[in-house]
Amino acid sequence: MKDRFKFALTTPLYYVNDVPHIGSAYTTMVADVIARFQRLQGNSVLLITGTDEHGQKIERTAAEQGLEPQVHCDRIVASFQSLWEKLNIQYDRFSRTTAVRHEAIVKEFFERVWQKGDIYLDQQQGWYCVSCEEFKEERDLLEGGFCPLHPNKQVEWRDEENYFFKLSQYQTQLETLYAQNLDFIQPESRRNEVLNFVSQGLKDFSISRVNLDWGFPLPSDPNHTIYVWFDALLGYVTALLEPEQEPTLANALSQWWPINLHLIGKDILRFHAVYWPAMLMSAELPLPKRIFGHGFLTKDGKKMSKTLGNTVDPFALVNKYSSDAVRYYFLKGIDFGKDGDFNETRFVELLNADLADNLGNLLNRTLGMLKKYCQSNGPQLTEADLDLEHPLKKIGTGLSDRVFQAYEALQFSQACEEIFNLIRASNKHIDESAPWSLYKQGKQKEVEQILYAVLESVRLSAYLLSPIIPNLSNDIYQQLGFSFDFNHKTHNLADDILIHHSQWGKLTANQNLSKARPIFSKLELPS
Ligand code: MSP
Repeated sequence: MKDRFKFALTTPLYYVNDVPHIGSAYTTMVADVIARFQRLQGNSVLLITGTDEHGQKIERTAAEQGLEPQVHCDRIVASFQSLWEKLNIQYDRFSRTTAVRHEAIVKEFFERVWQKGDIYLDQQQGWYCVSCEEFKEERDLLEGGFCPLHPNKQVEWRDEENYFFKLSQYQTQLETLYAQNLDFIQPESRRNEVLNFVSQGLKDFSISRVNLDWGFPLPSDPNHTIYVWFDALLGYVTALLEPEQEPTLANALSQWWPINLHLIGKDILRFHAVYWPAMLMSAELPLPKRIFGHGFLTKDGKKMSKTLGNTVDPFALVNKYSSDAVRYYFLKGIDFGKDGDFNETRFVELLNADLADNLGNLLNRTLGMLKKYCQSNGPQLTEADLDLEHPLKKIGTGLSDRVFQAYEALQFSQACEEIFNLIRASNKHIDESAPWSLYKQGKQKEVEQILYAVLESVRLSAYLLSPIIPNLSNDIYQQLGFSFDFNHKTHNLADDILIHHSQWGKLTANQNLSKARPIFSKLELPS
């Protein structure tokens, strides 16, 4: 049996300036799929998500609503948590940067970097985008001083004393890191973006703000507040503490560090792939293993924006279509890493084709035939009764390896494609071998062989799709007479019932099949 290991992964810690949007939902769904896949492999997993609650952007949003910042944050956090529940996200830690113990971690980390001599006081002049919480180069701004990432927000001029982090000191060390760890930044296009940025020469960046109350005071100079990004990245570390553990770096880093995977969107790549490793180098801590920057979602081919009124509300989407449907669309319908589009017609068409017509119908028609031709008993045979050259057995054997490889490489669409190859072949096998006429000819054994092969293919497909559509996989498994639950986080995978299910041929001769029920009703095209 393969070695088990620990796998810790993170989503970004989302800003609480507003309720969650589809972009945050997207990363979090993907993270949950990866976590479930890792659990299916028998690994111990820690999935971290959470919220980034300090800084000027949040302070201003709360003030606009006439609320104390903490009250505002608490409200928005509740809406994130309720969306994650609706989307069936099984996170292990929800890291809030306003948590009391987070302050202890940030301060200890700051002290380490301070002791190293990597922090100094200087004058900061420049254009600041409050929405990005980042200084911008003048050459990167749009006409009229608008931020390229927030084209309706004008940058603001700042001329103030700030503490700086000596990022420039880590230029060579970072370049060596990228050269020696080709997989550190993925996909390739993002890696190249970072290499290009770093090769232009790194500048120190300011890690404190004045005239800002909403944040942690700098230990060495309480007139300054710690910069929201310096604070937020450390939220990943605080998240590693056990609930009752004393908040020290040593405790936080003792079990799950280094993080195996940071999942982020492409707009926050520099913070994760350049600033974060340099901060960790300064504190002399091990680095995360891998950073994956995914693309941006558009709606009907256009950038989503509140001003254009074309945002996709993740709550409305799940309420209308179910969590599995939404998860499936974003995982199968978008090539992870590239930009992707949300289009409701395409959404309905994809789900109807794959889940209703191909998968759902296959299970339903096969169980129907079983009832008719075998008096609802499972086929009285096992995998060994099927010829090695059987078309479904041929695809099914080795399918898990191909699908697991795709999951490992975060190629979810490819994983689904491999699985649907077997599902389509199963439908074809029924059409071509016509069990209804074999039955009339009294060829019972052949009929049962067909039904066995198809049901086993449906079972294996449900198993392999379970990280993406756990509820549907449960329904299928239940109809096939199995009682375990893909949503049960602590089922003891170590005991391997589930791990063995990755092989083709697990349906037994006396499988106690349940009554056929449609698993996915066809959706109506939007009007
Ligand atoms: N608070 C920071 C992250 C700190 S991590 C220590 C932040 N928050 S955010 O809420 O603004 O963005 C969170 C994530 O949403 C980012 O990964 C960003 O790329 C992603 N998205 C924002 N709009 C998006 C789309 N339209 N499509 C896909 N993802 C998008 O940045």
